[in-house]
Amino acid sequence: MGTVISSKQPVGICGIGRIGKLLVWLLSAKKAQSEIVIATGRKTGKSIEDLATYFAYDSTYGAYSRFIAGFDHDRAVEIKNDSLYLNGVKLVWLNDPKHRTPGGIPWSEHGVEVVFDTTGKMLDPTVNDANSLRGHLNHAKKVVLTAPFKVKNKGVSMPDDTVTVVGGVNFSKYDASKHAIISNASCTTNCCAPPIKALVDHFGDRFVSYSLTTVHAATNSQSVLDVLPKDGDKDTRKRRSSFNTMIPTSTGAANAVVEVIPEIRSLGIGSQASSLRVPTTTGSIVILDVSLIGEYDNAYIHDIFKKYAEKNPDILRYSDEQLVSADIVGSTYSSIYDSEFTHHRTSKRGDRYYTMVDLNFWYDNEFGYVCSLWRLYGLLTGLR
Ligand SMILES: NC(=O)c1ccc[n+]([C@@H]2O[C@H](COP(=O)([O-])OP(=O)(O)OC[C@H]3O[C@@H](n4cnc5c(N)ncnc54)[C@H](OP(=O)(O)O)[C@@H]3O)[C@@H](O)[C@H]2O)c1
Repeated sequence: MGTVISSKQPVGICGIGRIGKLLVWLLSAKKAQSEIVIATGRKTGKSIEDLATYFAYDSTYGAYSRFIAGFDHDRAVEIKNDSLYLNGVKLVWLNDPKHRTPGGIPWSEHGVEVVFDTTGKMLDPTVNDANSLRGHLNHAKKVVLTAPFKVKNKGVSMPDDTVTVVGGVNFSKYDASKHAIISNASCTTNCCAPPIKALVDHFGDRFVSYSLTTVHAATNSQSVLDVLPKDGDKDTRKRRSSFNTMIPTSTGAANAVVEVIPEIRSLGIGSQASSLRVPTTTGSIVILDVSLIGEYDNAYIHDIFKKYAEKNPDILRYSDEQLVSADIVGSTYSSIYDSEFTHHRTSKRGDRYYTMVDLNFWYDNEFGYVCSLWRLYGLLTGLR
């Protein structure tokens, strides 16, 4: 297993859905590499022009050339000698059916060292076959999963070469000589773990418990209109129309936050998480209710996040504007603290004060998350 990753080498991306496509947008805008290697394992549309159109426009973010400010608009997406270029960065396309299996993708032949698996289909790092996340390591040095790990066989322990890291929380856990399969956790975890970490560090054992709800934009894991659930579907509400319904769903955020902030367990802080999908294309909010021992007002709480944002300026933005979800589309932050929306209430039991605080953190679950992948890529390559 190699440990030194070059930021100049082409990046590999498996799966070009919402996260994969926006990652291509971001990487091509940064221009750190001259090539991006993309594995779809299937043909796309009728011609390379269809691919060019897919990358040139986006129903949520608009035109690539307009989104990435300062571009020469005519030349942002080009076809030259049957190859596609975004901002001058060449996209190498692996669309043969044999490239559908991670172990069969010849990443190293294209100079790829780091692969982002954005398929959402291979989440279990304990599985060791060609058609798994680990399969990418047949021909690459590192694989980044753009989701939390999901281990099917609960009796199997996590391999030593895996780690879950979140920017602004536990990047120091990453050991280049040891870790080859790295989960960037979920967008929700990237939003709520930084402020929870700030609270844990500040309050310690005065932090009694928290409950979070993410009000989350729709994703492609849902249905456009009602469909018949598949055999064995657990979350059948995801088969209901995402157009016109609020849909309660499960979220792994409670476990993932504890994994990246182990003090939550050691301090015995209670935690809970739930999720509600709403009909927006992107733009989500975490409503975080915390219970603290002691008496605190809003100004005291604001100060914690002001200081955290000063220390982690690319992760958390402190806002005193009256935001709505449309305002955060295209945000590069993992989390935006909506200070205007903070409420607190203090009660007294015996001679002890307790304060409940209601906090709100916005996130662009798509582009904001892709920016967190860029920060993780910086961790792997030393590129900042
Ligand atoms: N959307 C969000 O807000 C968000 C935020 C953070 C993290 N995530 C996570 O990121 C992952 C992707 O999410 P997404 O929203 O981008 O999903 P998506 O839009 O459904 O994209 C997934 C893509 O992967 C492709 N794919 C599936 N299996 C493949 C394979 N074996 N080889 C190559 N391509 C394959 C699919 O294409 P085909 O049509 O060819 O199957 C599809 O284009 C999920 O794990 C999700 O939980 C999503």
